[in-house]
Amino acid sequence: MSPLAQHWPYPRWIAHRGAGTLAPENTLAAFALGASHGYRMFECDVKLSADDVAFLLHDDTLARTTDGSGVAGTLPWATLAHLDAGSWHSEQHAGQRLPRLDQLARFCLQSGYLLNLEIKPTPGTERHTGTVVAREVARLWAVHTHGATPPLLSSFSREALAAARTAQPTLPRALLLSELAPDWCQAALALQCVAVICQHRLWNAQVVEQARSGGLRCLTYTVNEESEAQRLLDLGLDGIITDRVDVFQPDA
Ligand code: G3P
Ligand code: MG
Repeated sequence: MSPLAQHWPYPRWIAHRGAGTLAPENTLAAFALGASHGYRMFECDVKLSADDVAFLLHDDTLARTTDGSGVAGTLPWATLAHLDAGSWHSEQHAGQRLPRLDQLARFCLQSGYLLNLEIKPTPGTERHTGTVVAREVARLWAVHTHGATPPLLSSFSREALAAARTAQPTLPRALLLSELAPDWCQAALALQCVAVICQHRLWNAQVVEQARSGGLRCLTYTVNEESEAQRLLDLGLDGIITDRVDVFQPDA
């Protein structure tokens, strides 16, 4: 087991996209709201603009969560920076911007918040996104000098995780799994991941045992029902990503 997997620095409860659906996802307003509910760790989705600025957005395209349109990763940051990423959610959040990763890093480092940074590449840019995000994280969290707990980098893209490992081998990585392919455990180990993050229905005692025997920490997404949360807690999972920051006490 890697030293980080042995001395796990991350809390069990993680707020999905900042504060689930209670605020516009992946905006600074969402992280502030998640924090106001007591959450100290946030999951969020990071990708690159056409000119390689790392910023937060879940979808490939802009239409659902901004007043823009088209594929976000084909536009320069100067264009993305002006979009309204809050009005789609509610009037109260009108004018929220797409956050850059450096803005989120400042917010987290100032208050000691931790991140699970999901690398969500624009299709076709997996390797490049993994490389640039890993370099940015190492720079922003000054991992080689300060020793601040770095974000846990995760991705469904094995290619992005492999590139992140090559760029910054010491950053912790987790493989996201929406299904259990026959090689899921070997793939996570080959990428030298410290954890796997499975869709919550995939976890059972046997899968936990397989992950643990590989020295992997066990995390899960996205858990919004109390009975399911209890089942996963009983299995001893290390991390639970939830939208329901208003329901689950993060210190539990
Ligand atoms: O990182 C866990 C979860 O966020 C993965 O799914 O689609 O919500 O990014 P998605
Ligand atoms: Mg995500």
